[in-house]
Amino acid sequence: MQVTITSRRPSLWNRYRELRLASLAESPAMFGSSWERESTFGEDVWRGRASHPGAFIASIDDADVGIGGVYEIDGRWSINGVWVSPAHRGQGVVDALVEACAEFVVARGADAVHLGVIDSNARGVAAYTRLGFVPDGTSVTLPDGRVEIMMTRSLSGEGGQPRAGR
Ligand SMILES: CC(C)(COP(=O)(O)OP(=O)(O)OC[C@H]1O[C@@H](n2cnc3c(N)ncnc32)[C@H](O)[C@@H]1OP(=O)(O)O)[C@@H](O)C(=O)NCCC(=O)NCCS
Repeated sequence: MQVTITSRRPSLWNRYRELRLASLAESPAMFGSSWERESTFGEDVWRGRASHPGAFIASIDDADVGIGGVYEIDGRWSINGVWVSPAHRGQGVVDALVEACAEFVVARGADAVHLGVIDSNARGVAAYTRLGFVPDGTSVTLPDGRVEIMMTRSLSGEGGQPRAGR
C-alpha cells in the first residue's frame, strides 16, 4: 500500500482542516486542543497552517488518511498533531508521517526530533518506540491533569535515510 505525503500546499487548506478536525473529534483525549476550539477557526488560520512546510498530509490513493507536522518550538523541533484515521491504522501511515518529519528536520541541520504523548496512549507510545523514539525522562502535566511523556529520537548520522518501519 503506497502512502503519499504532501506538504506546504496552501490550496489544500480545506483538506488539512478536515483532517485536523476529524482528529480532534475522533481522539479528543490525545491532543492538547479541542474540536470545539478549532472548529471556530477561519479560513485564514487554516491557510496559514497548511502553508507551513513541516505540515504533512498522508493519503492512500485519493483518500486523505492522516496528518501530522513538525515545528520549531523553543529552539527544538517537535512533532505534533499526528493522527491516522482508524480504518488505516497499522498500515505504515504513521511511519510515513514521522519519516517526513525526520527528513524535514535533518535537512535543517537538526540531530534530534521530539514529541509528547499522553501517558495513557499505549498505542501511540508503541508506535513511536518502534520508530526510534525513547522517553527522555521528562513529562509535562497539562492544565487538565493529563500527563505527557516526552520522547526523543536521535537523528545523528541518519542523513535523511528512512528508518526501517512497517
Ligand atoms: C498513534 C497513531 C498515530 C499510531 O498510528 P497507527 O497506525 O495506529 O500505529 P501502528 O499500528 O503502526 O503501531 C501501533 C503499535 O501499537 C501496538 N498497539 C496497538 N494497540 C495497542 C494497545 N491497545 N496497547 C499497546 N500497544 C498497542 C501495535 O501492535 C503497534 O506496535 P508494533 O508496531 O510494535 O506491533 C494512531 O493510532 C492514532 O492516530 N491514534 C489516535 C491519535 C493519537 O493518539 N495521536 C498521537 C498523539 S501524540
